[in-house]
Amino acid sequence: MNLTTNWLGLELQNPLVPSASPLSRSLDSAKALEDAGAGAIVMYSLFEEAVRAEEEGMSRFMHEQETGSAEAESFLPSHQDFPGELDRYLEQIASLKATLDIPIVASLNGVTASGWMTHAKEIADAGADALELNAYYVAADIWEEGHYVEQRYITLLNELQQQVSIPINMKLSPFFSSIGNMVKKLEMAGASGVSLFNRFYQPDIDIGGMRLQHVLTPTHSADALLTMRWIAMLHGRVECSLGATGGVHAAEDAIKVLLAGSDVVHLCYALLNNGPEEIGRIKKGIGEWMEQHGFEQLSDFRGSLSQVNVQDPAEYERLNYIRVLGSYDSPGGVWR
Ligand SMILES: Cc1cc2nc3c(=O)[nH]c(=O)nc-3n(C[C@H](O)[C@H](O)[C@H](O)COP(=O)(O)O)c2cc1C
Repeated sequence: MNLTTNWLGLELQNPLVPSASPLSRSLDSAKALEDAGAGAIVMYSLFEEAVRAEEEGMSRFMHEQETGSAEAESFLPSHQDFPGELDRYLEQIASLKATLDIPIVASLNGVTASGWMTHAKEIADAGADALELNAYYVAADIWEEGHYVEQRYITLLNELQQQVSIPINMKLSPFFSSIGNMVKKLEMAGASGVSLFNRFYQPDIDIGGMRLQHVLTPTHSADALLTMRWIAMLHGRVECSLGATGGVHAAEDAIKVLLAGSDVVHLCYALLNNGPEEIGRIKKGIGEWMEQHGFEQLSDFRGSLSQVNVQDPAEYERLNYIRVLGSYDSPGGVWR
């Protein structure tokens, strides 16, 4: 069975790509993902806040060195003795590249196009095959108009392109008025791909203690349906790569997003919960399903359930909506 796929211009042996998670923090777990059959790995994110904090700390450190006496300075440790988050990140890229054969995609996580982004160049120099940008931005200012929020993404992408020539993948949230148009604009601005969708973590309220609760709740297969719809809507209408992220837990979920038209299928919770072997199980499930249906390669069925041949997708979506509401059957004995 030929599962090869092209993602961001990279040739992958198969479409299963672990998304950003702590699994890439250790060489052992990253190697376990490769051994289990991952097509590529997206690294955990380097956060804008961590880089900024480090730069501020460094400038204070240098300033204190300068103001001390020459004799005292010789007793002070050199700043190289304290590798910070950025240095550790660069070292991890280099180690992953030296140890693994599959492509390594670095991940930046931030919202302002400013100085911290210059480090993207070091990330590319360290050997990353591509760069993902997760602009985890909650538009909380009620006076900020939607087009400014969209422009932020384009500006961030432009800034990254000034720094690197490796492919850039944008991990997007579903909270845009016109997702398709946003993807098209990013593609026109030079994005090599988009991953749909970034998950906004939602704080809960503890009514006993009357305080906020910040909990990381796992995703479920049903979460992949939103991704599936938008991948289906965009396949064939944009040329950039499409990655499905969020809610893929089983071979069935992966097959659905491939039928919708994704180039890669990201996995996170499925691997955190069940270990790296889950990649092998999902891959096997895809292979068996392909065999049952007489498919030899992904291109035989990828996007076959997309909306590329639907003349008016908006109208089609409304008709489906009306049909789904109409299918409601009341449970006996509850409503008369
Ligand atoms: C523990 C944990 C850490 C994560 N770290 C990152 C990160 O550093 N950067 C990022 O873009 N996404 C991060 N994510 C989000 C995942 O990459 C993924 O988009 C999300 O979990 C939904 O996919 P899933 O349903 O396959 O888990 C993290 C998720 C978890 C559970």
